[in-house]
Amino acid sequence: MKLSITGGGSFETNANATIYETLKANGVFLVSPCGGKGTCGKCQVKVTSGGATVKSYGKLTQQERKDGIALACQTSATSDLYIEIPEHSKLVLGGKIAVSIFKDTAAYLQSYGVGIDPLAKRVSLTLPPPSIQDNIGDLQRLTRSLEDVGITNMRFAHKFVSTLMETLREGDFSVVVSYSKQSDTAFDAISVYPHEQCNGRYGLAIDIGTTTVVVYMVDIANGAVIDIGSTYNSQTKYGDDVITRIVHATEGGGLADLRNTVVGDINTIIDLLCGKHNIESRHVEAAVISGNTTMSHIFWGLNPASIREDPYIPTVNYYPLWHGSQARLNINQQAAVYTAPSVASYVGGDIVTGILASKMHRSPGISLFMDIGTNAEVAIGNDEWIMTAACSAGPCFEGGGIKFGMRATQGAIESIKIDPNTLTPSVSVIGGGVPTGICGSGMIDAIVELYKHGIINQKGVFNPAKTPLVREGEDGLEFLIYKSDNSQRDIVLTRDIVLTTVDMENLIRAKAAIFAGVSLLLREAGLTLDVLEKVYVAGGFGNSLNVEKAVMLGMIPDLPPDKYIFLGNTSIIGAYLTLMSDTLRKDLESIASKMTYIELSVVGGYMDEYMSAMFIPHTDISKFPSVAAALGL
Ligand code: FES
Repeated sequence: MKLSITGGGSFETNANATIYETLKANGVFLVSPCGGKGTCGKCQVKVTSGGATVKSYGKLTQQERKDGIALACQTSATSDLYIEIPEHSKLVLGGKIAVSIFKDTAAYLQSYGVGIDPLAKRVSLTLPPPSIQDNIGDLQRLTRSLEDVGITNMRFAHKFVSTLMETLREGDFSVVVSYSKQSDTAFDAISVYPHEQCNGRYGLAIDIGTTTVVVYMVDIANGAVIDIGSTYNSQTKYGDDVITRIVHATEGGGLADLRNTVVGDINTIIDLLCGKHNIESRHVEAAVISGNTTMSHIFWGLNPASIREDPYIPTVNYYPLWHGSQARLNINQQAAVYTAPSVASYVGGDIVTGILASKMHRSPGISLFMDIGTNAEVAIGNDEWIMTAACSAGPCFEGGGIKFGMRATQGAIESIKIDPNTLTPSVSVIGGGVPTGICGSGMIDAIVELYKHGIINQKGVFNPAKTPLVREGEDGLEFLIYKSDNSQRDIVLTRDIVLTTVDMENLIRAKAAIFAGVSLLLREAGLTLDVLEKVYVAGGFGNSLNVEKAVMLGMIPDLPPDKYIFLGNTSIIGAYLTLMSDTLRKDLESIASKMTYIELSVVGGYMDEYMSAMFIPHTDISKFPSVAAALGL
């Protein structure tokens, strides 16, 4: 049986495989925040002809069903099947969340004043050929030459040694050895090549987010990022947040499911990138993993159960340097795989790499770092000390729990303006064209514009008397942000985009958790807002975060806009920096060791701070003087 896509692509399928699984196996990715469970309603395809069985229509409306829309993860072919994939269902690989704001990563690396010294190193050697007089074995011969250049205590895996005889002779005893450093005095061999066959050398920076996985393929000889791949983390089929994943991991066999799923996601991207750029997987000699504590544990197959049990202790904060084979990655099996160290159960390696990418650890001035992703983590400090905490913000700003929420990729509404006279919204869409959803920055814009024009009140409740754009929807009152153009329906399958009452509640809860976290951390540090020299904001907000609007919402502190620096996805940049420089890898470890974790739930006063922040911008308007002035309050 064939599954054919209008506009290109025809793949073998069978009655046991869903459309979603068949497409994914062939490198066609759909938006799928629930990972194929049938609950998010986002993996929509239009069935144009052929036979199919449908397990569930999930959240699809009557109109969508009439239009032939089906959920790819709930539908399987029963005969040759033809489908269209609407724009809003296509997952954009290498989207703006992945590229981050650092266009020239190699130049950013240079700005640290460090040289290129990647995780996997190479040394060229010309060995004296064996003779009757010099008749030591091949491995001893190699070891002797390595020691001559100061590389002692090299460990060799069986696979390395098993090809040594041929390689030495093929290269006429002139070879290149790649290796990693376990410590300043201990090394691990990765590969040996005949000198003339030694071409490219590659490494991976890998950000394992709870919602997304991003991979940078890097030429580690010069630091150039060759390509970027990203996908949703398919673990979401076992739950959206880390807690439900931990619960699944602790049930029989659950850990293996979760591990296989995320390793599969990463390997799918690696295979695509290697294929696209004609890179042999054995030439990928290093990888750096950056993820939160739970994601890092699951990636390595470590039981994360104790992370959610009082007193919240992970198995490891500092990971040994393990290998490609242990990581089960489709790269050189001896490749060095480094994992960014964590600080605590809910402040992981992704925050440590984020701080490395922000450079706040190099400045004597006090800065605040905020990473707003599937959850929100905050850190405050300078070149001597750093305090950190996790806020329970949830995944709203990455699109989770929001009806038309999506990541900041092609087709996402990233900003919204409401005309003060007509109260009609105009939107700006990433990449232009028809919008397919709304990303974090668009949500912040929307809620602030709605509040400014009286369409919602301080608690986010809609006022239907204000405009007919507030209408009764399937889930209660909703605001129509973008009206679909039905005349184009057969071409692009556009749809109305709304913000619902439930969306409003989720957004206000999320922003309140973030603000409460910042307030408590400052209080614990004994500091006030005025001491902050810079505020670094990381997260998937697209090209930028509108700081003034985020302040007006009451999500971030009321500070002059020039103190805010938006950094995008810092976890992937920190992983890249760690991959490319031993010095920065040491910096990373020093950052982790100096970070003090504060458990907000036990310091007292969290609930009060949180409840006070459940208003736009806050119950205490004196905390937001610029908003009070702008609104004439
Ligand atoms: Fe299919 Fe979520 S409904 S991936």
